[in-house]
Amino acid sequence: MLLNPHHSHISTTTMDTKMCRVLGHAIAVLFLSTSLASAACNKDDLKALLSFNSSFPPRTLYNWIDTEDCCSWDGIYCDDGTGRVTSLLFSNDDFNDFDPIDLVGRMPPSVGDLSELVDIRFSTLPNLVGPLPRQLSKLKKLKTINIYNTNLSGPIPSFLSQLPALERLDMSASQFTGSIPPSLGSLAKLRYVDLSRNGLTGSVPPSLFSRLDRSALATLNLRQNKLAGAVPRSFASVAFGGIDLHENRLTGDARFLFGKSKPATSIDLAQNKLSFDLTDVEYPVGNLDYLDVSHNEIHGSISEQIKEATKLSYLDMSYNMLCGRIPSGGSFGNISSRDFSHNKCLCGTPLPPCKN
Ligand SMILES: *[C@@H]1O[C@H](CO)[C@@H](O)[C@H](O)[C@H]1NC(C)=O
Ligand SMILES: *[C@@H]1O[C@H](CO)[C@@H](O)[C@H](O)[C@H]1NC(C)=O
Ligand SMILES: *[C@@H]1O[C@H](CO)[C@@H](O)[C@H](O)[C@H]1NC(C)=O
Repeated sequence: MLLNPHHSHISTTTMDTKMCRVLGHAIAVLFLSTSLASAACNKDDLKALLSFNSSFPPRTLYNWIDTEDCCSWDGIYCDDGTGRVTSLLFSNDDFNDFDPIDLVGRMPPSVGDLSELVDIRFSTLPNLVGPLPRQLSKLKKLKTINIYNTNLSGPIPSFLSQLPALERLDMSASQFTGSIPPSLGSLAKLRYVDLSRNGLTGSVPPSLFSRLDRSALATLNLRQNKLAGAVPRSFASVAFGGIDLHENRLTGDARFLFGKSKPATSIDLAQNKLSFDLTDVEYPVGNLDYLDVSHNEIHGSISEQIKEATKLSYLDMSYNMLCGRIPSGGSFGNISSRDFSHNKCLCGTPLPPCKN
C-alpha cells in the first residue's frame, strides 16, 4: 500500500524522508490504539466505503479491516494533507500492489459519495457488469476514469459531461453500446478519450474536443466499434497526438486530419470505408511514426512529400485504390514496416517497377 503520513499520529512535518514515514507507520501500527488509527478516515468517506464493501459478495474485500484506517485498505488512496479518499483503484493489470481481486456485480452507487475522488480505475474485472451508476456525476473533482476490460454495459452515459474536471476517459474493451454522447464535447479539459473495443454505433460527434485548448494535444481511440458516417470536419482544428479510428464503418473524406505541421505521432484510419483523393495530402513532418490507412477506398497517388516525415517507421497503405509511383530514396527507405499491396496501380519498390 501507499504509505501516507497521516497513517501515523506522529507529526510528519519534520520527517520528510520515506524512511521516516515507514518508521512512523510502523510505530503507529505497533503502539497506537486502534480507535486512534481508525479516526484518520474521514467519516463521510468511511460511510461510502462501508456501503461499497457491502455491495459485493462477502469476503470480496476481505482485508478491509474496520479497525484499520480506511486509507490503508486495498484500492484506497488518500490525500496526505486532507486525509480524504482521492483514488479508488481496482485492477488486475500489472499496476496492482495487492492480491488479485474479483469484483462480482455492479458498480455500487456509493462510489459517487466519495466526493473528493480524483481518479478511479476499475480494470480487468471480467465479472463487473451492468451500467455505470448515475451517482458518478456527483464527482466534481474527478480527472481520470479508467474503466476498461470489464463486462460493464449500457451507454457511454451523457452524465459524464457533468464532470468538469475530467481530463482522461478510458472506457475501452467492455460491452458499452449506443452512441457517443455529443455532450462530452462540453468538457473543456477532456483531452484523452479511449472508447475502443466496444459496440458503439452512430456517428462520431463533431463537438468532441471542441472546447479543448487548441494547443493541448488530444488523443482519440475509437478502434473496433461500429461507428458510421463521416469523420467530423471540426477535427481539422484539433491537435491530435494520436487518432485511431481503425475498424469502424466511417465514410467520406479524412484529408483534414493530415497536414505538414500537425503534431500527430500516430494516425490509424484502417478498415473503414473512407474514400478520398490522397494525391495532395501532406504528411506531418514533426513526429509521425505510425500511419495506417489500409483497407479503405482511397484513390490518387502518394506525394513525394511523405519523405519529409523522417520519423515514420510503420506505413500501411494496402487494400486501397491508389495509383502511381511509390516514393523512394531518402529516409523513406528507412521505414521498417511498409505495405502497398492490393492497390489499383501503384508501382516501384517494394512493388514491381513502373512501366515508364
Ligand atoms: C466488508 O464486508 C464484509 C462482508 O461482506 C464484512 O465481513 C466486513 O467486516 C466488511 N468490512 C468492513 C471494514 O466493514
Ligand atoms: C465478459 O464475460 C465473459 C463471460 O463470463 C468472459 O468470457 C469475458 O472474458 C468477459 N469480458 C471481459 C472483457 O472481461
Ligand atoms: C536511415 O537510418 C539510419 C539509421 O537510423 C540513419 O543513420 C540514416 O541517417 C537514415 N537515413 C535517412 C536518409 O534518414
